[in-house]
Amino acid sequence: MFDLPSAELHLHIEGTLEPELIFDLAARNGVDLPYAGLQDLKDRYEFTDLQSFLDLYYSNMQVLRTEADFADMTRAYLRRAAAAGVRHAEIMMDPQAHLVRGVALETCVNGVASALADSEAEFGISTGLIAAFLRDRPAEEALEVLEALLAMDAPIIGIGLDSAEVGHPPSGFTAVYERARQAGLRRIAHAGEEGPPEYVREALDLLGVERIDHGIRCLEDDALVRRLVVEQVPLTVCPLSNVRLRAVDTLKDHPLPAMLERGLNVCVNSDDPAYFGGYVDDNFRQLEQTFGFSADQLATLAANSIRSSFIDGGRRDALL
Ligand code: HPA
Ligand code: ZN
Repeated sequence: MFDLPSAELHLHIEGTLEPELIFDLAARNGVDLPYAGLQDLKDRYEFTDLQSFLDLYYSNMQVLRTEADFADMTRAYLRRAAAAGVRHAEIMMDPQAHLVRGVALETCVNGVASALADSEAEFGISTGLIAAFLRDRPAEEALEVLEALLAMDAPIIGIGLDSAEVGHPPSGFTAVYERARQAGLRRIAHAGEEGPPEYVREALDLLGVERIDHGIRCLEDDALVRRLVVEQVPLTVCPLSNVRLRAVDTLKDHPLPAMLERGLNVCVNSDDPAYFGGYVDDNFRQLEQTFGFSADQLATLAANSIRSSFIDGGRRDALL
């Protein structure tokens, strides 16, 4: 049990699908996996960039077929996150990744939502669900899915933008984000993970996002860093993810200490913990070992996460 209470703000629920659960769900659903066995699958968790991860991530989703599958995956994450000290989680899901393989919107949304509904009582974790759109698919499709989510009154608090970043700038998604704004939804987007600082600026100026997922490449642009500091835009940084997807060579080379030093509003998250070698506690522990962060610095990172959440005021104050 890790006892630094924090909020997890950058988490893809499909990225919590552990290898063992992939095999269990495949057996339950009669899915023929293209792996010789568990170890063969685990041996493939060696990535060269974002796309090499995304290929495996989307492929493994084929085991998710029923509401119960989505609920079981979500419950497994919440149980593990509670042990990691997470007290509030804003969880992204990728509806298009399921729709394209013939799984209904209701199946994935209701499955995840049913586990989230019990989360506070069962695991002590308050939650919010965020629908993330795939930036390497047409924006018109994202808009259609958003309309469908609104029509079914899906219990989402906001929207996000993920998948292959380079060549898919935020500017293509202005209509989707405008519709979300009208609907009263919170807005976040991945930017500056593999993409240039300009994508961070576009996400802020053209999409009106309130948080940036990753954002580490902002450091290449001094004017942008100054703006992010002045506006205290939250950056949901994922150190182990950045190492595994080779955005940085090793954890020692990670810019998190420099980001803190510059006064950026950063917090620590796990992104796709089943794929990247750890949950929030693992990220914190490895940061502590690598950089010798003090208890105060760790507490600042944890407090940043709670302050940057979309949690309601009363619970935020209780967690801080
Ligand atoms: N980056 C972009 N898209 C994603 C990721 C990520 O780390 N994980 C799941 N979708
Ligand atoms: Zn992410």
